[in-house]
Amino acid sequence: MIGDKKIVYSAVQPTGCITLGNYIGAIQNWIKLSEEYDSIFAIADLHALTVRQNPAEYRKRAMSFFAQYLACGLDPEKSIMYFQSHVPEHAELTWILNCFTYIGEAQRMTQFKDKSAKHADNINMGLLDYPVLMASDILLYQADYVPVGVDQKQHLELSRDLAVRFNNLYSPTFTVPEAYIGKQGAKIFSLQDPTKKMSKSDPDVNATVSLIDTPDDIMRKFKRAVTDCDATIRYDEENKPGVSNLLTIFSAVTGRTIEDIVSEYEGKGYAQLKPAVGEAVVEKLRPIREKYLDLLNNKDYLMSIARSGAEKAHSIARRTLAKVYKKVGLVEG
Ligand code: TYM
Repeated sequence: MIGDKKIVYSAVQPTGCITLGNYIGAIQNWIKLSEEYDSIFAIADLHALTVRQNPAEYRKRAMSFFAQYLACGLDPEKSIMYFQSHVPEHAELTWILNCFTYIGEAQRMTQFKDKSAKHADNINMGLLDYPVLMASDILLYQADYVPVGVDQKQHLELSRDLAVRFNNLYSPTFTVPEAYIGKQGAKIFSLQDPTKKMSKSDPDVNATVSLIDTPDDIMRKFKRAVTDCDATIRYDEENKPGVSNLLTIFSAVTGRTIEDIVSEYEGKGYAQLKPAVGEAVVEKLRPIREKYLDLLNNKDYLMSIARSGAEKAHSIARRTLAKVYKKVGLVEG
């Protein structure tokens, strides 16, 4: 499965639910890229331990996310799919890379600052080390492209810096990865506060759309989406963030251009636009939800894919880690 083609790597943390933002910003691009390149997709279950999780719920959610990967159309024949915690090399490379990461670099990460402010009673080492674990994920597989939303760009920069630093100190070891950020939908915003990104951890259920929401829930959320009082339909991120977000979503789920949609809805009101976006999202997500419900009844099948994915991932990761151990001067076992 891993041959001469370029390598694509990405992951999602199993927290909250997989949102329409994750789907449009990341997973939709994963599917496209997996048609052309060798691809590896993980459930980043070690990453999400940086905030407290209820163990029973967490285990269930990680499985649910894995089923959603498949339901979205990722094909285990074309992509390696696995749980990060099943491949021990991630934690091992993190230790080595920790020794090449400056504390100041890690402290500068926006996500570290945001999460520290949000979880002031639990600013743990893992939270600071989060981007180093992410760099290990990517560098272990010699990934060329990493499809993510814009919020992960800074972490990607750190991964690149670490790869270059290590390569310069020793000799070429890691491929220097590039972020792959889709032109449109790189940032989908909250339906309730369109100046904030749609976030998995948003406590307001009306702010996010989950891939497995029921059609009724999706329609209700879009009908209630916050817009503005100037009732014209046009794309203007700065002055009309709510309407622009709706247009971006509409375009991303239908493949139509924003101009085409604007010309259809010009002169019409938000009361027409909002349910139309809702319906387009319902239609896009319907087959995903149906496949997901079906897969949940087949846990053995899900686990067989996860186990074979982890085996393949492990054999690639081991090769990189062996090189790294040798270069830094560890005695070969
Ligand atoms: P996570 O789990 O927060 O998000 C998963 C992916 O979804 C993208 N995304 C969005 N895109 C558009 N609009 C939004 N509102 C939106 N919200 C999230 C994210 O950019 C991401 O691509 N650290 C990563 C997970 C990770 C990873 C990796 C990614 C762990 N190891 C290695 C790439 C490579 C994260 O927390 O993503």
